Amino acid sequence: MEGPALLIEEIEVENSSPPGGVISVWTLNRPDKLNALSSDSHAEIKQNCKLAEENPNIRCIIIKGSKPNQTVDNKKPKPVSFAAGADISEFLECKSSDVRPFFEDNAWEAVWNLSKPTIAMIDGFALGGGLELALSCDIRIASTRSTFGQPEINLGLIPGGGGSQRLCRLIGYGKTMEIILSGRMISATESFEMGIVNKLSSPEELESTSIDLAKEISSKSPYTIKIAKKAVRFALEMPFSKGIESERNSFVSLFDTKDKEIGVKAYFDRTSPEWVGE
Ligand code: COA
Repeated sequence: MEGPALLIEEIEVENSSPPGGVISVWTLNRPDKLNALSSDSHAEIKQNCKLAEENPNIRCIIIKGSKPNQTVDNKKPKPVSFAAGADISEFLECKSSDVRPFFEDNAWEAVWNLSKPTIAMIDGFALGGGLELALSCDIRIASTRSTFGQPEINLGLIPGGGGSQRLCRLIGYGKTMEIILSGRMISATESFEMGIVNKLSSPEELESTSIDLAKEISSKSPYTIKIAKKAVRFALEMPFSKGIESERNSFVSLFDTKDKEIGVKAYFDRTSPEWVGE
């Protein structure tokens, strides 16, 4: 029997303000299936999105894949993977009526809709639904040995977790078409050059690079971070002039927060701001 599809741990943010801040690290835990996203994975991710939203201590979320298990009996070792896609074994002999309810209430949207910042820490394969999960995060940091792709076309399918839309907004029409229509594997370097990945790191330094960024983000006012994330999203959702107007309204509203006063005062006092989160 498989254990939990998602493991959760917390990393304390030292001297956080308000106190008690943590980075929540979510590990996709199906190493023997290259962390392919099963219906259990989706249910557990959705549940944890809900809990993370309710927990004021969680400042930032990192999503990563579990490392392969040690091999036994001369079996071929499993490759390292973030997530090699949706679990294809759940697709056999399924009709649209079978999959529609699941796809209408999925983990990709739950992660995308989090108000807190999210980082995908990618080591190995990020394919299909796995890449879509990484695209649902705000930031992607990958090891140089990672491989990306939307290979659904090879199964007679297309991306169903928002990949066509999020990829197109992230890297543009032509490159998205190439990736989705060819289904080809893309190296970490090419993914970085295309803009899929924010930052590349050696496999050894991937964790510290990701945690350092999460800590940096977690040292800001959690309230202002939420407003900043929302403001950037305006660019995806709204016509340009409406986006400018919405950004301005958010900016102006921050002048009524305690954290604006704390931040500006700390700048002049040359001290570190002690945010209150309001
Ligand atoms: N869904 C379900 N199981 C998957 C999976 C997926 N998306 N990706 C990998 N697995 C399973 C394999 O079936 C295999 O299981 P087994 O050991 O019980 O037979 C195990 O993970 C290891 O994968 P394997 O194919 O043996 O590894 P490999 O190194 O030869 O190849 C990949 C790695 C990533 C190239 C290959 O697994 C692959 O093409 N996966 C599917 C990718 C895909 O199409 N994703 C989009 C899905 S919509």
